[in-house]
Amino acid sequence: MTNEWWRSAVIYQVYPRSFADASGDGVGDLAGITSRLDHLRDLGIDVVWLSPFMTSPQKDAGYDVSDYRDVDPLFGTLDDFDALIARAHGLDLRVIVDLVPNHSSDQHPWFQEALASEPGSAARGRYMFREGDGDQPPNNWQSVFGGPAWTRVADGQWYLHLFDASQPDFDWSNDEVRADFRTTLRFWLDRGADGFRVDVAHGLVKADGLPDYTPPEDADSMGGAEPVPYWGQDGVHDVYREWHAVLGEYEGDRVLCAEAWMPTVGEIAKWVRPDEMHQAFNFSYLMSEWDADGLRGVIDDSLAAFGAVGAPSTWVLSNHDVIRHATRLALGDESPQGHGIGPTSLGIPDTAFALRRGNAATAVMLALPGSAYIYQGEELGLPEVIDIPDDARQDPTWFRTNGERYGRDGCRVPIPWSAASPAFGFSETGASWLPQPDSWAAYARDAQAGIDGSTLELYRALLRLRRERGLGKGGLEWLESPAGTLSFRNGDVTVLANVSADPVDLPAGRVLAASGPLPDGRLPSDTTVWVG
Ligand code: BGC
Repeated sequence: MTNEWWRSAVIYQVYPRSFADASGDGVGDLAGITSRLDHLRDLGIDVVWLSPFMTSPQKDAGYDVSDYRDVDPLFGTLDDFDALIARAHGLDLRVIVDLVPNHSSDQHPWFQEALASEPGSAARGRYMFREGDGDQPPNNWQSVFGGPAWTRVADGQWYLHLFDASQPDFDWSNDEVRADFRTTLRFWLDRGADGFRVDVAHGLVKADGLPDYTPPEDADSMGGAEPVPYWGQDGVHDVYREWHAVLGEYEGDRVLCAEAWMPTVGEIAKWVRPDEMHQAFNFSYLMSEWDADGLRGVIDDSLAAFGAVGAPSTWVLSNHDVIRHATRLALGDESPQGHGIGPTSLGIPDTAFALRRGNAATAVMLALPGSAYIYQGEELGLPEVIDIPDDARQDPTWFRTNGERYGRDGCRVPIPWSAASPAFGFSETGASWLPQPDSWAAYARDAQAGIDGSTLELYRALLRLRRERGLGKGGLEWLESPAGTLSFRNGDVTVLANVSADPVDLPAGRVLAASGPLPDGRLPSDTTVWVG
């Protein structure tokens, strides 16, 4: 029997190194996560997605895997993973594991074997080794993290890495690579994983002949205008058809979720055709600005595009790769969203103003039908951390662009649990792999729990109502509303979001939840209300 839970689930992203540190070394771990799962149950989410915790030299925070079927000692052991799954399932939470198939770490035994083998050998055939053009690389591709996408090895050949030089791309036309990943899927499914979030799911297959490609000036590094010879090639879909069949061998509705940064929702929806993946992140929604017409447009497009292939739409505002939405939605035009922000960035908004807007956006998202993603710490209203000292930064983007792009450390700072504890309760020893701002005492979970008007209580209320009223399984009907506002009904809940500068009247009915105060019984700017 299947209940297709994923069609309406709220999925909470845990970034293991920044969630909770049981060992005290300043990096979060699996035991830390297990010990705090009851907080997530209490928040009202359905599923936990764990960013990578497999064996890795941590050059890209675990997105550089050297053993796909073991836990990195930094995060614990396979026994810790089993304990986490058991505790989560005991709390009626599902667990999704992050899988990184586009590339491995350069410390993966296969890559080490490739380096030690001859050009043209079977060992090199698992990766993308090519001859260069004289002293030049085989083509002009640039890495997503900046700099060339090719690195030369001692015998003169070059290998492709769409990301860091420590992340060589696999060759997905190689049967051994394909078979090994099917083994990895089964390994985690056998241990009880409920599915996978698939990293760079649009990148595995490259165009024949590896033609040169120069992205347009304003292209997003992970998406870009089409066609791009390394994103969204038709062949990737065959891989997911194979994986769909593997998951189908297991009980209990296991799922695949695509991280496919494609330029339109219509493109993204190709990953969730009936025999492929179950969900795909809606990056068009994440990238849309706080603008009533734009939001309405992307919501309509999403419901239409995903609906056309029989898949639920997903909704997401934050993750470990983008500026936290409690800052981003109020950023000035001067700071491009893709590059991170830091002390020299312009247009940094006032924190309270930006949070109000962020919470208004959350209250729109959690009222939409489909499945929603929450990134750890957004339920605390955490802003992006801007003043991380240069010498504490860790994102390869920062290093590969010589500090030109700040990268993603600002959304990865360990989260605060208790205002008065060392490292705000993240780690008993007070250690923290990225420094936490002093101002985070006010954001700590224990400083917000039970406090009317706190962001934490807002998330809890919205998630409870979403569940009680079946909004995830509902439908959306647009309602007329004043200019610069957005209004829709889902089931018996009416939502009004004020994206304009002036207050507007509340819709008729009882206020169920509001993302901020409602002075004089009206809905102020940057506020969303649920009425029913
Ligand atoms: C992940 C990033 C990672 C990259 C390379 C992504 O899209 O979300 O955090 O750096 O893939 O694996």
